Formats: sequence, C-alpha cells, structure tokens
Amino acid sequence: MLANTLVAIVVGAAGGIGKYTAEKLASRGVFLLLADINTKEVTSLATELAQRYNIRAEAFTVDITKEDEVKKMVETATSFTGRVDYAANCAGVLRELPGGHPSQTTLDVMKLTMAVNIEGLYLCQHYQAEQMKTQPPRPLKFTHPVSDHLPGERGAIVNVISVAGLQAVGLLAYTTSKYAGLGLTKEAAIAYGKHGIRVNASCPGLVETPMSNGFVNDNNRSIHAAAFAMGRASHPAEQANVLSFLLSDESRQVLSPSKLYMTGSTITNDGGYTDLKLPNYMELNGNAEGYPGSKLRNEREASESRADVDNVGLDSLSLSK
Ligand SMILES: NC(=O)c1ccc[n+]([C@@H]2O[C@H](COP(=O)([O-])OP(=O)(O)OC[C@H]3O[C@@H](n4cnc5c(N)ncnc54)[C@H](O)[C@@H]3O)[C@@H](O)[C@H]2O)c1
Repeated sequence: MLANTLVAIVVGAAGGIGKYTAEKLASRGVFLLLADINTKEVTSLATELAQRYNIRAEAFTVDITKEDEVKKMVETATSFTGRVDYAANCAGVLRELPGGHPSQTTLDVMKLTMAVNIEGLYLCQHYQAEQMKTQPPRPLKFTHPVSDHLPGERGAIVNVISVAGLQAVGLLAYTTSKYAGLGLTKEAAIAYGKHGIRVNASCPGLVETPMSNGFVNDNNRSIHAAAFAMGRASHPAEQANVLSFLLSDESRQVLSPSKLYMTGSTITNDGGYTDLKLPNYMELNGNAEGYPGSKLRNEREASESRADVDNVGLDSLSLSK
C-alpha cells in the first residue's frame, strides 16, 4: 500500500486555507505532514484527519523563517515513504490594513512580511523541490491513452499567493511580498520543470479565514463584498479545491496536445475581482491622501476593534463549518 501512497507537506496547515487544503488531500488518501508555527492547532488537526480519513497525518512545528527548521520539516515528511510528492505552501502573514497609504507601513512590518512571505516561502520551496529532484518519477494515473507516452512526475508544489501579487491593493509590504512570490514560483517552474517537478501559484481574492478576520467583520462585510462579482468572499474550501487540483495528476491530464500540463501557471480564484473591473480595494478602502475610497475608512473610524491585525494565533476555523 505504501508504494502507492502519496505524501504531502501542507505548510501553514493551522490557517484557514491550509487547514481545508489538508482536509481535501486527506480525503484523497494522501499522507500528510501538517506544518505550522501554531503547534496546538496543527496537532489537533493531525489527530482529527488521521482518524476521520484513516491516513497517516502528523503535526510539525516550524517557523518557516528558520532554515534548519524548514530543512527538518522536509526530512520528516520524506521519512514517511522516502519521498515528498506534493507541497502546498499556505503560510503567510498580513500585518497591514487594506487601502493603507505606503507611509503607514513601518520598517518592522516590511521586514516581518518579507521574512515570512518571501524568505520563508523561498526556504520551503527550495528544500521541497531539492528533495523531489532526488526521487524517482512516479507514473501518472491517467485514463487517456496518451498518458502512456508521458514522463512521470517527481513532485508538485503549489504556492498560495494573492490577487495582491497581480495588482496593488493598498498593502505595501504584503503586495510587494506577493509580487515576489509569483517571481519565486515562475523561476522555480523553469528550473525544476525538466526534472519532472511542477510549481504553480494560486491567487485568492478575499477568503474568510483568521487572516481576513483581522479586518473583515459583520459591519463591513457587505462593503468588501462589493469588490467581487460573486458578491462575497470565498470559503477556504473553495481555495483548497484549486490547490488540490494544481497538485494532482488532473492538472497534468492531456485533453488536447497542448493543454493542461500546468507549471508556472497562476490560477486567479478571486470571485471575479481582478478581471472584472468592479470597484477595487483602492476605491473601497482608501484611508489616506491620494486614495479615493471612503466607505471602509468611515466604517473603520467608527469601529473600535480594528487594531489587531496579527493573524498568528487567532481562533481557527472549524472544519465542520
Ligand atoms: N485570507 C485571505 O483573504 C487571503 C487572500 C489572498 C491570499 N491569502 C494567502 O493565503 C495564505 C493562507 O492565508 P490564510 O487566509 O489561510 O491565513 P491564516 O492566517 O488563516 O493562515 C496562515 C497560517 O500561516 C501560519 N504562519 C504564519 N507565520 C508563520 C511562520 N513564520 N512559520 C510557519 N507558519 C506560519 C499561521 O500560524 C497560520 O496558521 C497566505 O499566504 C495568505 O497571504 C489569503
């Protein structure tokens, strides 16, 4: 059985998107190393998923800004079956409020955001891909006869970026880090493609998770919703489906000779934010000179509960929600 069992590392597994991605992979029978700086959450998730899906799921405490810890994380996942088939990089921080003026972003916030969202992502992707490079290609499981002629895959990585990697949203440090995240993804896709390793990015819009709970609340939810054609933020499970697809053989499946062997791609899963030109975050959120929006500014000024945007350690979402 172990020979056919896939192993995934989900980084940021205690967070909203990471948790649902872990569950989606568990439902496919994938063994999981659930990594996060939040030990308590990730430990209870591992127990829950192992029991519910009869898989091996273990928790791993990691600060992705620390190289030795990231290296150990990849070694631990490799110890399950001798390989790491999938990696979903979902850890991240947001320490600003949307629509902010660049002058409001302090050097400390800039440093922390870069350390986690860029240096941390770099370390994860580097050690994951280098491990994948050493393992033999895995035959693909297709139904289409052309698959017999395709090379196997050593591994697949998906990085959670953001629409803030595609356009400015009034979050100087975060947006800068997310543009760089797409750069990391594309460079790795080129470098590792010939080794049979795919690296893709997903760009969510607004997702209801502990991260967005720092600035979305019952008073302003409808204002945020106006930026999305779907009229709402997404549920993290809707993001998890895309991440699972990008990792799976389905995103390798050849339906026509040139389609769907995805690497270096960006899926924008944003409920119609980026492409449909609805009122954007700058208009809805502007709160400083040069930024026209006022709706969220007014609401924000009226609210007393907006100071804490620390997304680490906030109450987690329940999988059953
Ligand atoms: N929620 C949104 O609206 C939204 C939108 C677009 C993109 N994203 C991105 O999606 C990813 C997941 O976000 P989320 O909404 O699930 O956020 P979240 O805050 O729920 O989860 C983030 C997780 O990362 C972990 N983490 C933070 N710093 C870490 C570190 N140094 N080492 C290890 N783990 C660390 C946190 O403990 C947390 O569990 C992030 O990269 C985020 O930028 C989120």
